[in-house]
Amino acid sequence: MNIDHVATIRNARGGDHPDPVRAAEIVASVGGDGITAHLREDRRHIRDADLRRIQEATDLPLNLEMAATDEMLAIALAHRPHAACIVPEKREERTTEGGLDAAGLHNQLAPIVARLSDEGIRVSLFIEAEERQLDAALRLKVPVVEFHTGEYAHAYLDGDGERIERELRRVADMSALAAKNGIEPHAGHGLTYENVQPIAAIPQLAELNIGHYLVGEAVFVGLEAAVRRMRELMDEARG
Ligand code: PXP
Repeated sequence: MNIDHVATIRNARGGDHPDPVRAAEIVASVGGDGITAHLREDRRHIRDADLRRIQEATDLPLNLEMAATDEMLAIALAHRPHAACIVPEKREERTTEGGLDAAGLHNQLAPIVARLSDEGIRVSLFIEAEERQLDAALRLKVPVVEFHTGEYAHAYLDGDGERIERELRRVADMSALAAKNGIEPHAGHGLTYENVQPIAAIPQLAELNIGHYLVGEAVFVGLEAAVRRMRELMDEARG
């Protein structure tokens, strides 16, 4: 689970409630596999101090989403999360819109990937499910890619069956290609109870990162119930 939006609600009032660390503890208690958090340049989600607190509060692996900057590299090296997912970051965007241009940014990414990998941090790149980006990830020798499912989620919202199928095929094909080339594929963005199952059913996908919808559902049913339900749907889809 991506716990960023618990922090977004906290930050709306500037205090310490609701605490994303408490969310991480609940995720751990209901059998979640990992915690994802994005330390953004503007700190609009989690804050620096949250990182250590999350790491101390649970044994779940922490996946730190980070921009490819020197500042974030230094923070990642200081905290040594289990994994670091490099994401594109634009100050004015509401959320991470679109994947990282791993192909165009090879020279900027290569030293960052190398430094993180040298420290034993599992590096992932958040990319579009496109062969060009997957090729770039292979050249950068990352062990993991996370495919951006935003277009798939939009197609679902629009109820456009043809686009849903096309987007699903894209993620499925690139997941198979990634696995064939020794890269572990993950996916995430915009996943909900309604649209998660076709993605969860893609056999090569080893991890889904889901945030905003779960926090939204938690308002109505509680975080524990929301995580459990999402997990049930994912497990059901995988048979
Ligand atoms: N994976 C990555 C790399 C993300 O940046 C995000 C949030 O933008 C997510 C997954 C989760 O997306 P959502 O909050 O829409 O579930």
